[in-house]
Amino acid sequence: MKKFPKGFYWGAATAGYQVEGWNENTDWSEAARKGKVPPAGRLCDHYNLYDKDFALAKELGHNAHRFGIEWARIEPEPGEFNHEEVEHYRDVLKSLHKHGLEPFVTLWHFTLPVWFAESGGFEREDADIIFARYCKFVVEELGDLCTHFATINEPNVWAGHGYLFGSWPPFKRAKIFTKTLGKDDGSTARVGAVPQFGNFLRYRKVEQNLIKAHKRAYTVIKELSPQTQVSLVKHVHVFCSNWNPFNFLKAKAMNYLQSGKFMSAIDTHLDELSLNYYRRTKFGDRKVYQKSDMGWEMYPEGIYRALLSLKKYNKPVYVSEAGVADEEDRFRADYIRKQVKATHRAIEAGVDVRGHMYWSLLDNYEWALGTEKKFGLIEVNYQTLERKPRLSAYEYKKIIERNGLD
Ligand code: BGC
Repeated sequence: MKKFPKGFYWGAATAGYQVEGWNENTDWSEAARKGKVPPAGRLCDHYNLYDKDFALAKELGHNAHRFGIEWARIEPEPGEFNHEEVEHYRDVLKSLHKHGLEPFVTLWHFTLPVWFAESGGFEREDADIIFARYCKFVVEELGDLCTHFATINEPNVWAGHGYLFGSWPPFKRAKIFTKTLGKDDGSTARVGAVPQFGNFLRYRKVEQNLIKAHKRAYTVIKELSPQTQVSLVKHVHVFCSNWNPFNFLKAKAMNYLQSGKFMSAIDTHLDELSLNYYRRTKFGDRKVYQKSDMGWEMYPEGIYRALLSLKKYNKPVYVSEAGVADEEDRFRADYIRKQVKATHRAIEAGVDVRGHMYWSLLDNYEWALGTEKKFGLIEVNYQTLERKPRLSAYEYKKIIERNGLD
């Protein structure tokens, strides 16, 4: 039996824009109004139905939950904070406590207030000051109800889509020498994303500004509330290779560029770490893998390497997202079991993993791909808002109840 440490957190994650509904003051809703990304609309109406959703999570055995606060709701205009929305998120946190779910809050998960995005977003010289002001406000208002706050969700993924591939707001697509970045496979909207040389430099600047923003937010939060545990949510795409030394070097470079580089710039400003894992790429591998509804090779075991790559930072680690898009629920249960087993192996190898949050609790808005991809443990009917746990959710529950698996 692979037993997890006592007090291990088990649950699932969501993000504000992807489930709440009617979140109309963001760069994404603005892009939807211009027809560049699919409209979100009411979605799961989690903004109103959160208490029912948390009751379901409880029934499914969860004892923790990760969610994102929408910056655009809290600060609809520069420096003006909306106290009704603060009350809303206080109610969300109270509901989590009522259902025995430990909250993990993400302060910023991809969507920006329109005023911030339109004035340059993270390209602004003072972006770190603005971001830290918002983070400080939230922790001041909600810190009594939550210990774990993550500043930024997947900075590299966000900056990559927005400034290299041009598939997400602000739709900037880069060109390096003769190479245009991003795929032209039609899977993402790229309306008006004209490839430009300057966008690579913009990307670099945004990356630097995100580093500054995280560090400043960390510092102000800790000054205000030393007991708050601050993390950053890092997406780790695992790159590895076959025997070929050229592939080996390629994998090493990719791991550094998409993960190590950013991490080594912020590792002095972290109390804990949050990991999002979805994918592994093995250069030189001819094996054919089963694919998820996202078209991604399914390799849940790769979370072991992703976790191991974080060991050197010597911090508690929470799996803040890992999961699979599988509308028919054919693979999910097996995927979860493999992912959990690999997480256990990482604990045995010395990584201080303290929680596992499946992505996602509910079916949701998968960014530029709209609502067709189904990651949820709970299926949502967008017409009737009916919720129906998938069978795999009960398989996950069995693992949780035993705090481990064979
Ligand atoms: C993001 C989620 C997204 C998931 C699946 C992660 O990169 O944090 O918002 O839905 O991956 O693509």
